[in-house]
Amino acid sequence: MKHLIAPSILSADFANLQHDVQMINSSQADWFHIDIMDGVFVPNISFGFPVLTAIAKYAKKPLDVHLMIVDPDRYLEQFKKAGADIITVHYEACTHLHRTVHAIKDLGCKAGIALNPHTPVNVLENVIEDIDLVLIMSVNPGFGGQKFIEQTYQKVRQVRQLATQKNANLLIQVDGGVSGQNALPLLKAGADVLVAGNFVFASANPIQAIAKLKSISPAVIQV
Ligand code: DX5
Ligand code: ZN
Repeated sequence: MKHLIAPSILSADFANLQHDVQMINSSQADWFHIDIMDGVFVPNISFGFPVLTAIAKYAKKPLDVHLMIVDPDRYLEQFKKAGADIITVHYEACTHLHRTVHAIKDLGCKAGIALNPHTPVNVLENVIEDIDLVLIMSVNPGFGGQKFIEQTYQKVRQVRQLATQKNANLLIQVDGGVSGQNALPLLKAGADVLVAGNFVFASANPIQAIAKLKSISPAVIQV
């Protein structure tokens, strides 16, 4: 499968959201990555339902909603109603993670679990067969434009290994500090979905930046 690109709306121009949503519509991006921050789970507040609903009105691609909030169960239905196609919750924010994952699936959404940089991959052992996506945080969540953590490659390989071992069919997503520099090694390590905020929106030509990430090929050409 060709890898997917999910530009992060967190880095968009919030005064010109419609423009940036249409840019993503017309680009080679596959999903919209939507970061929801509550100021409790992470030291930042992003935006909530009115903004998500406004994005959904114009977005022509799946909405990949990354919840950086405590007790996400309270809001799952509202996120679905606001247009979420994929809902990812943090392992660190869910006491009854198995229940939360199934609540997401019962709503008809794809379910993802995100791991902070300090959280080992083996915590997924008893839930990996129930999920559609694993999000490996390659920065500490809360802000765009941070430096990529190199340990991520190893964690991506570990998720791939665990998924193969358990015969689990899921996507591995990497989020934070993704750029033209680390995209290739990430894909080689086994990543399927690359989230990119700053790399896309700080670029002089966001459409080209997305095309660049999309065109990278992990295939090794043997001579
Ligand atoms: C960080 C968010 C990321 C962020 C990525 O907490 O989850 O999605 O927006 O932005 P960059 O690519 O700039 O690190
Ligand atoms: Zn994110």
